[in-house]
Amino acid sequence: MCGVVGYIGYRQAQETLLQSLVRLEYRGYDSCGIAVVDGDLKVFKDAVRVADLAAKAQPLNGTFGIGHTRWATCGEPNQANAHPHQDCTHTIAVVHNGTINNHVPLRSRLKSQGHVFTSDTDTEVIAHLIENHYHGDLASAVRSALAEIEGSYAVAVVHHHEQDKLVVARKGSPLIIGLGQGENWVASDVPAILGYTNRVVYMEENELAVVTRDGIKLWHGDNEKIPEIKHVEWTAEQAHKGGYDHFMIKEIHEQPRIIRESNSTSIHSGVKDAELSGILSLDPPPSILILACGTSYHAGLIAKYLVEELLGLSVNVELASEFNYHRHRTPEALAIVITQSGETADALLAMRRLREHGTKLLAITNVPGCTASRLADETWYTGAGPEISVAATKSFTAQLKVIYRLLLSCSRLERRDFDRLTLALRLLPSAIQGVLDNQLEIRSCAKYLASCSGVIFIGRGLNYPIALEGALKLKEVAYIPSQGYAAGELKHGPLALVSKTTPVVAVLGRDTTHDAMLTTLREIKVRGAPLIAIAPKGDDGLDGLADYIIPRPEVDNLVSPMLNAVVLQLLAYYTALELGCPIDMPRNLAKSVTVE
Ligand code: F6R
Repeated sequence: MCGVVGYIGYRQAQETLLQSLVRLEYRGYDSCGIAVVDGDLKVFKDAVRVADLAAKAQPLNGTFGIGHTRWATCGEPNQANAHPHQDCTHTIAVVHNGTINNHVPLRSRLKSQGHVFTSDTDTEVIAHLIENHYHGDLASAVRSALAEIEGSYAVAVVHHHEQDKLVVARKGSPLIIGLGQGENWVASDVPAILGYTNRVVYMEENELAVVTRDGIKLWHGDNEKIPEIKHVEWTAEQAHKGGYDHFMIKEIHEQPRIIRESNSTSIHSGVKDAELSGILSLDPPPSILILACGTSYHAGLIAKYLVEELLGLSVNVELASEFNYHRHRTPEALAIVITQSGETADALLAMRRLREHGTKLLAITNVPGCTASRLADETWYTGAGPEISVAATKSFTAQLKVIYRLLLSCSRLERRDFDRLTLALRLLPSAIQGVLDNQLEIRSCAKYLASCSGVIFIGRGLNYPIALEGALKLKEVAYIPSQGYAAGELKHGPLALVSKTTPVVAVLGRDTTHDAMLTTLREIKVRGAPLIAIAPKGDDGLDGLADYIIPRPEVDNLVSPMLNAVVLQLLAYYTALELGCPIDMPRNLAKSVTVE
């Protein structure tokens, strides 16, 4: 949520900042802006996309500056509320990702001191506070200003009179520093700097840095510290569309490769230690909690089914956003936190609470160096590469892949299940490729769905979370009200929604739930609702029952959620395409939800 960038070096800052902002637009696209020192401090900002700002901003001749892309929290999305924000004398510019909880009293105090505000944002108080504290040293003014703030921030600040530095600080929101030769960058996330450098310093909580052309000085609290430089393996190509129209479809198509690659390589490369997974093998069995939000929560629900079925352990799955608001009486031995970005505020808050209770934390995440990986005792990376589309696709199947690998690493897993799962995972990438190569039925179904004003998704067992995920994808990218239900729950209420104009998408596997699913489908059919069935090829039970059948390759039912997920991702994508939706950046959303 919100992307912060900064550049200091020898290139034209305007171009570099705008390029970096384009790559961070998935973090928010309500407005954007840049501040570049070109003699004076020049600010261009508006409630437009980065490409539109780039088209209308006058060319600036400056080699350092800051930029921002906004997901509005405090103050509506308009030009005045776009970042950068400035002080009264327009010598300071600030960009910020986070939330300032005490901005109201700070604003009224600053106003009573004569400061004039031009926006409704919480961020603007930072600029005025820095102005108050400025006595010729920007770093100490920023430090003093931030000491007055309650809340979270990743900030980047420039001052017209100190043309040799950016001052940046982090508390509760991510910030990295990219290192070059005679030039340096700052950014909320790695994709912003890919193509410029792979050498990165991940700022920790409560750190402040002065970034110059030739290096950085870093403080943790009051203590200066030596920056730890990491090498980022992601490439600039991974953050490009690579010939596809949208990142979403590109990322959907990457899935066979990602799954195949992590079949052959060690999935927990980069892990701090690999002992926590051993907890799953302990006797007596430990209690396990899984926490996640959104799509990652759906991966958690599938993990519950699998762990209970194959390991015989009981698992609690909770939405991290809800977990934080009830009293946790019996802390589990192990909590598995699933988060693509590793920066989701609700998940991080839950992790911090659990740490206090002594629960061991295992993170499953996609982003190296993310906050979740630093809070966790152990991290398993999903290895999906940068996911730019706001709608999660490849990161979801990669999370599932890690969950299967986690199961395979447990001595509690019986030999025959180990062999069965290993084979199923080996065969899966070509089955997914089969879905990607045969999209005819999916596309014709998408044409039909585009004309509907509401869709119901149902599944049972392992495919119930997939029904939830299918509904989330469709509402997210195609804006069609969609709801996912456990098929058996329809008759307990949701069946009232079923009508001739409300199609039902049913996700079937070849397992013990199959006959019960057919019974539910008959109940729907007699009520006149159009039926779309996603099922293994050759499912005779569907003949004469489903209006559309999307046949998918046969796979072991244990891994069928991954294959069905791909079908539903494509269905959502092509429906959104029919409707002309802004697929990679759906309205009101942003990737990496860093506010509660
Ligand atoms: C949906 C989607 C979101 C995320 C959710 C959690 O397509 O992307 O629902 O899954 O915001 O994000 P992470 O996994 O980064 O914690």
